[in-house]
Amino acid sequence: MLKMNVKKFLRSLNFRIMVFLILIGIIPALMVAGGFLASYDRLSMTQLGNDVRNQCQILATQLSSANYFENMDNQTLEGEMTQLATLYDGRIIIIDEDLKIVEDTYDLESGKTIIAESVIRCFRGETVDYRQGGRFIELTVPITTGGENDQTIIGVILVTASTDTQTANLEALRQSMETWLVAIGICVFALAILLSNWLVKPLRHMNQSVSGLVDGALADDLDIHDCTETEKISDTFNLMLAKLRRIEESRQEFVSNVSHELKTPLASMKVLADSLLVQEGAPVELYQEFMKDIAEEIDRENTIISDLLTLVKMDRKTTEVNVAVTDINEFLEQILKRLRPIAEKEKVEVVFESNRSVSAEIDATKLSLAFTNLVENAIKYNKENGWVRVTLDADHKYFYVKVSDSGIGIPQESLDNIFERFYRCDKSHSREIGGTGLGLAITKNAVVAHGGAIKVQSVVGEGTTFTVRIPLRYIV
Ligand SMILES: Nc1ncnc2c1ncn2[C@@H]1O[C@H](COP(=O)(O)OP(=O)(O)OP(=O)(O)O)[C@@H](O)[C@H]1O
Ligand SMILES: [Mg+2]
Repeated sequence: MLKMNVKKFLRSLNFRIMVFLILIGIIPALMVAGGFLASYDRLSMTQLGNDVRNQCQILATQLSSANYFENMDNQTLEGEMTQLATLYDGRIIIIDEDLKIVEDTYDLESGKTIIAESVIRCFRGETVDYRQGGRFIELTVPITTGGENDQTIIGVILVTASTDTQTANLEALRQSMETWLVAIGICVFALAILLSNWLVKPLRHMNQSVSGLVDGALADDLDIHDCTETEKISDTFNLMLAKLRRIEESRQEFVSNVSHELKTPLASMKVLADSLLVQEGAPVELYQEFMKDIAEEIDRENTIISDLLTLVKMDRKTTEVNVAVTDINEFLEQILKRLRPIAEKEKVEVVFESNRSVSAEIDATKLSLAFTNLVENAIKYNKENGWVRVTLDADHKYFYVKVSDSGIGIPQESLDNIFERFYRCDKSHSREIGGTGLGLAITKNAVVAHGGAIKVQSVVGEGTTFTVRIPLRYIV
């Protein structure tokens, strides 16, 4: 399901990158082409307008110097007008002061009066720009009297010129541009496919490797070197894998330890019961002795199970910590009072030193488990006539409990492991002393649940000191 989703995601990512690349490739090309065609159109029309105006101005000067309006029968000028009109595939109309058309190269309107706005404005001396409409442009040029000081407008040339050539040029240009745009489009499309595949490839590769790992039970590391980013992701992923492997290992170890620990008392009971069964008429004393041993094994099994349950409960993230303000001096005294008989049996002296009276917000049940185990360990792993010293101190934020002993000590290489479940330093010796190796795991859980910390210092043969630091106020 997840694999399918990732594949789908990669496909859609590929598609999105491709569309993005196509858009950034084609939109600018279209804009440039459109802008270019529009400018070309504007420029070619202005150019035509200027050409026609220049030619008409020359004609106007000739008309003026030939006194055209007085002597209209001028073949040369008429020829020129026709030539000009033919050149621009248009029409030339000459209008006199009375707005009467005196000459029309189309010979359609001669003799009529014209009241077009552009003509009237031209007579007023205003410069009128060319007007573009349909397939032609139209413009007016004034005819003035020849004198240098007297520039009276005596007539107007109204000329229309065809824009067919310009339109045809523009059309040809548009067609060639369209061909280019199609070619560019094909190139951009091909490039976009290649590029988007190239960009998504490392992710696809990564997905394949990760899927392979998921199927292959965490056995291998990821090994991706497509680019720096995926290399970094792959490194982080490998760190996570290493952590998962450690968790998996400790889970397996935990399960095998639990089974082993739970089986041991059962095996002892079985041996004891079997040996009674095979002895016919065994004396009552023997029964009693064996039954006592069986009862001890049952107690042991019970302790292991309840320790395991405590740990499982504490392991849950949502573990409730029922805090109440507690007098820590009294709390520790109570614990020591309960443990003193064991200490006396082991010939170990237990002393309590407190520098101040401390009260803090704690979950007494949980911390009681923790400190009981620390003091119990200090007694158990001690020497004859040894001592255990419990000291209490505090500052404005934390209280500190130190449990020191004059015992056998913990080897340096074991210090990192003693908080692990079922870990015991010297298995044979520990077995003889009794214990399952769950005590310190419970202790650490309880301390951490309070937002505290625990550390240990030890010298083999000299003794051990556990220091616990707990905040005075419980912070959720
Ligand atoms: N004060 C100490 N001095 C020497 N060794 C210690 C001391 N405290 C703990 N250890 C070592 O650390 C191991 C783990 O301690 P832990 O309290 O977790 O287990 P345990 O005492 O063996 O069993 P349990 O507490 O579950 O009955 C012990 O088996 C012992 O080898
Ligand atoms: Mg213990």
